[in-house]
Amino acid sequence: NKFQEKFRPQVHFTPPKHWMNDPNGMVYYKGEYHLFYQHYPEKSVWGPMHWGHAISTDLVHWEHMPIAIYPDSLGYIFSGSAVADYNNTSGLGTKENPPLIAFFTYHDMKAEKEGRFTEIESQAIAYSLDKGRTWTKYKGNPVVKNPGIRDFRDPKVIWHKDTKQWIMSVASGQVIKFYASPNCLDWTYLSEFGEGRGEHGGVWECPDLFPLQVSGSNEIKWVLIVNINPGGPAGGSATQYFVGDFNGKEFISAQSKTQWMDYGKDNYAGVTWSNTPDGRRILIGWMNNWEYAGEKPCIEWSGAATFPRELGLVKELDTYLLTSEPVKEIEKLYGEKVEFINQDIKGVMTISERIPFAKSPVDIRLRFDIADKTKMGFTSKYGITLKNSRGEYITVGYDNVDSFFYVDRTNAVGEVFSERFALTHIVPFIANGNYADWRIVVDKTSLEFFAADNKVVITDLYYPTEDFDIIEIFAENGKIRLGEASITELKSIWK
Ligand code: FRU
Repeated sequence: NKFQEKFRPQVHFTPPKHWMNDPNGMVYYKGEYHLFYQHYPEKSVWGPMHWGHAISTDLVHWEHMPIAIYPDSLGYIFSGSAVADYNNTSGLGTKENPPLIAFFTYHDMKAEKEGRFTEIESQAIAYSLDKGRTWTKYKGNPVVKNPGIRDFRDPKVIWHKDTKQWIMSVASGQVIKFYASPNCLDWTYLSEFGEGRGEHGGVWECPDLFPLQVSGSNEIKWVLIVNINPGGPAGGSATQYFVGDFNGKEFISAQSKTQWMDYGKDNYAGVTWSNTPDGRRILIGWMNNWEYAGEKPCIEWSGAATFPRELGLVKELDTYLLTSEPVKEIEKLYGEKVEFINQDIKGVMTISERIPFAKSPVDIRLRFDIADKTKMGFTSKYGITLKNSRGEYITVGYDNVDSFFYVDRTNAVGEVFSERFALTHIVPFIANGNYADWRIVVDKTSLEFFAADNKVVITDLYYPTEDFDIIEIFAENGKIRLGEASITELKSIWK
C-alpha cells in the first residue's frame, strides 16, 4: 500500500509528496471531480506556489495527476477557482469541446521584494481543452489588474444565471470585491462588501459566493464565504460566512452577527466545487492553520484536505445558518460496523474492546438522550475520548454547566511542536430537545465533529506518538444514556 507513513491520513486527500495548502480550482466535468491545490513540490514547507492536481470520480478516492500550473515570470500561482465554460463564452474552446477555465492569482515576488506593493497581486487565467489534463496560460494575462492594494487575491468565479454573466469575487485587504464579465476575459468592477461587517482581525482570503436553498422551504439565499487569517475563533485562520442576497451587482447581508463555519483550528481556505451534478454544494478546506502549518511533524508531505462536506442552509427565527456534513460518498469507505444501544454511562465506559478495528479511521455516530436532565443526575460533562496506551488523548465533549461543545487536544501530541497547538476549542451552544446526535469522522491525525443538526463543526488535528486505539464514552457526575451509537470502520482511500 502507498502512503502508509506515520501521521499520513488514510481517508483524507494529501499530496503525494511535499507541501500543500489551500484547495484550488475545484470543478466537476464529464464525470470527474477536479481538485487542485497550493503546492510546493520541492519541500514540505511553503515555497514557490504551483497548482497540484488530483482527480476523483466519487469525491473520496483520488488519483494524483501531474502538476497543472507552474509559476512563471509573472509570479507564483496563488489560490483560485475553475469553471466549465459550457457555452464557450470565452472563445477559448468550442461549443463541442468547451474549455475548463482556471482563475488564479499571480503573486509577483520580485515586486514584493522591491516594495512595489500594489503590483504584487493580479488575477489571471489558464484553460484546458483536454478534460483538465493540460493547461495553457492565457496570453492576455492578467485579466484583472491590481486596483492599488497589497492583498488582492483568490478569485472565485461563478455563472450568475439571472443576469447571464460571470461574477468574480476577489479578497482585497479586508473586503471582498466583485467583478462581472460576459466572457471570463474582460472584467468590470461592480462593488465591494465587508466594511463594518464580520470579523477584521486579519486579512480576508479565499472567498466563495453561491446560492443555497433554505431547508424545508423554497427560499433561496446567497452565501458569501470569507476566510480570514488571523482572527479565527480558535486563533489563527478560520472561515466566516454571511447569508443574504446577491442581485448581480451587490451582496447584501441579511444579518450582522459573525457566523463561523467551523470552530476548530484546522479548517481553512475552504471553497466549493463548480458545476456539481444535482446542484450539490460541496466544500473542501485545508485541514490546517497558518499559526503552525509550517511546523507540523510531517516530513514526506505536509498538509491535508478536510473530508468533503455537503453544505445546507437552515433558518432559525431570523437567522440563517450554514450546515455541513460529510458527503454521503463516505459510505464507499465503510467496512465493519459495531452498534451499541441503550447504554447507561456513569463515569467511563471503554467501548473499543468490542471494536476490532478501533485503530483504523472510523465514522462515529452517537445519540445521547438529553431530554430529562434530572434523571441523568446532572451530568456536568459527557462525551467521547480517543486515546493510546501512552496516556495521550483527545476528547470531544459537551459541558452541561456552561453549555458548550468542546474538543480538548491539550494532550493529543507526543512531541510539542507549537505553543499554539495544544488547546481546547469550544462552541457555546445550548443543547436542548430530546437527543443530541453527534457525528465524528476520525482519521489517524484528525477529527471532524458535527453536532447540533450539523450547525456546529469542530475540525482539529492531533499527532499522538502512537495511533489512538482506545475509545471511551464518559459522563462526569451523574450519568447519561447513549440511546444509539455506531462505530464504522473506514477503509483507506489509497488501497
Ligand atoms: C490562504 C492563502 C491565499 C493565497 C495562498 C498562497 O491560505 O494565503 O490567500 O492565495 O494561501 O499559498
